[in-house]
Amino acid sequence: SPAAAVAAPAAAQPTPAAAAPSRLTILYGSQTGNSKKVALQTAEAARQRGLEPTVRDMNDYPTRALASEQQLLVITSTQGEGEPPIAAEDLHQFLLGPRAPKLPALRYSVLALGDKSYLQFCQTGIEFDERLAALGAQRLADRVECDVEFQESAAQWADRVLDVLAQEVATAAPEVGPSTGAALAQAAAVSLNGGSQADLSVFRVTSSPVPALKPAVQHEDVQFDAPLLEKIQLNGRGSAKETYHLEFSLEGSGLQYEPGDALMVQPTNRPELVADVVKAARLDATAPVQLKGVELNLTTALTEHLELSVLTRDVLERYAALAPQYSELREALLGTTQLQAFLYGRDIVDLLTQFPIDLSAQHLAAVLRPLPARAYSIASSPLAHPDEVHLTVGAVRYEAHGRQKHGACSVYQADHLAIGDTARVWVDRNEYFKLPQNPATDIIMVGPGTGVAPFRSFVAERAESGAPGRNWLFFGNPEFTTDFLYQTEWQQHLKQGSLARLDLAFSRDQAEKIYVQHRLLEQAPQVFKWLEDGAYFYVCGDKTRMAADVRKALLTIIEQQSGQDADYAADYLKQLKKSRRYLEDVY
Ligand code: 2AM
Repeated sequence: SPAAAVAAPAAAQPTPAAAAPSRLTILYGSQTGNSKKVALQTAEAARQRGLEPTVRDMNDYPTRALASEQQLLVITSTQGEGEPPIAAEDLHQFLLGPRAPKLPALRYSVLALGDKSYLQFCQTGIEFDERLAALGAQRLADRVECDVEFQESAAQWADRVLDVLAQEVATAAPEVGPSTGAALAQAAAVSLNGGSQADLSVFRVTSSPVPALKPAVQHEDVQFDAPLLEKIQLNGRGSAKETYHLEFSLEGSGLQYEPGDALMVQPTNRPELVADVVKAARLDATAPVQLKGVELNLTTALTEHLELSVLTRDVLERYAALAPQYSELREALLGTTQLQAFLYGRDIVDLLTQFPIDLSAQHLAAVLRPLPARAYSIASSPLAHPDEVHLTVGAVRYEAHGRQKHGACSVYQADHLAIGDTARVWVDRNEYFKLPQNPATDIIMVGPGTGVAPFRSFVAERAESGAPGRNWLFFGNPEFTTDFLYQTEWQQHLKQGSLARLDLAFSRDQAEKIYVQHRLLEQAPQVFKWLEDGAYFYVCGDKTRMAADVRKALLTIIEQQSGQDADYAADYLKQLKKSRRYLEDVY
């Protein structure tokens, strides 16, 4: 079946008695820190149930340890087109490779974090789950796949799998004294099973009271309606690009961020698009719909709560189920290639127009998915601009299927938000894409286009704090005259020494394309010297082409400059990644 949301049912019933004393490891593969956060919260919830988990980062998990695991909770995200996070690469490769051991004694469960707007949704988690099963391990609970708003699904998964384990401990050791972890586990299991107050009171006499069970994974983000203070078009007249600099006030919000973090921005849909959807669905704009038990009119639901721009596999599945007469819809769902081709540039209006069906307002709302907030790499330093947060936003506009298409959140900010308006925002921490702890460490930053955003933050922060480490920026864009984003600021930093070097690649200022990776190659000896001396290397921006080409250039530089072979270069880069000195924030 096409990407079933849940894996096959658990293969075997757990065997309570045998499992009681066994080890529990929570293993996470994290790119920005979300999987790590879920792992830590799951561990806390496990301790509340009297279990004794060990939390481990895949980045420094020895693959040979797998064979001695007994109970393993795997929490991993998936990057872009279905790849594991850098921290999970080694374990993933080992496990899926020919040298992976049989694991018949292992019991496990996988929580997969992902983003439904990518077709290879939760691919890494799916691969871990299926491969562990193929190696003979048994599922403690079915895999759960989470979309960007992962907290609710993650909490359900953690509660389910931890309840299984806590019950086993309780069943296996019922006579153990109440001050032990097992008793706590039993109490927890009882309370979760709706046990009576009388049952629970047995445990109240202990010195360590039964903690109230919080949901295992919590949503802690503070949301704020941030007033827009400033909006500036950064490109000159005639540019092929449309990039905005936005400044929001965070005054009184309590929101805090560090350079490298992202800001989540909750868009609303364009009134024109909402009207087009209503028309294409042949519905009444004021028809009532229920969303999560709240009654709204269709226009409000479509404007504020439902995704209209980006179609995903599950939206198409739900639509196709209501439209069995269209074989083209079924065929699009047969494989990833077909699906990708079908979904490209198509929105819900195209679907309703090209494959018309009769559906009620409520059906339409049920077919669509919630309107997710979008993440933008923060472009400001909190030291340089206290109480503010700045973004660098590229407006996405293109034509497809005979209609003009607009990026939901970029065009919301470009066209809809006026100075003085507020946008709902919160901070999305990126734990790893951070400045070096040591302010004396040098950094190399590669950020063409809007990828320059976090580096405006980095350089301002290091200028403000007087960090002695050198800062080297590679920036690229189509044309010098129209697209040199933040030109005067960089010149200021160069003058003051807060930027040691600036290398520019204006791709269309000459006959042949010049990109940032070409500038890197030109500077090979210096780039390698900086790395050898301990520099961090950051890449931000386009994932599929730029980041891949930059990685290749870096491999070439390492190979050439070290005088060694390609294997050596690959290993060198791998060590940079593992020590988190090579860091990507790509999209
Ligand atoms: P182009 O559009 O002129 O081809 C920011 O978008 C800059 O990144 C632009 O100058 C763009 O060039 C450039 N760019 C496009 N593809 C790239 C690639 N594979 N590697 C590096 N930069 C690229």
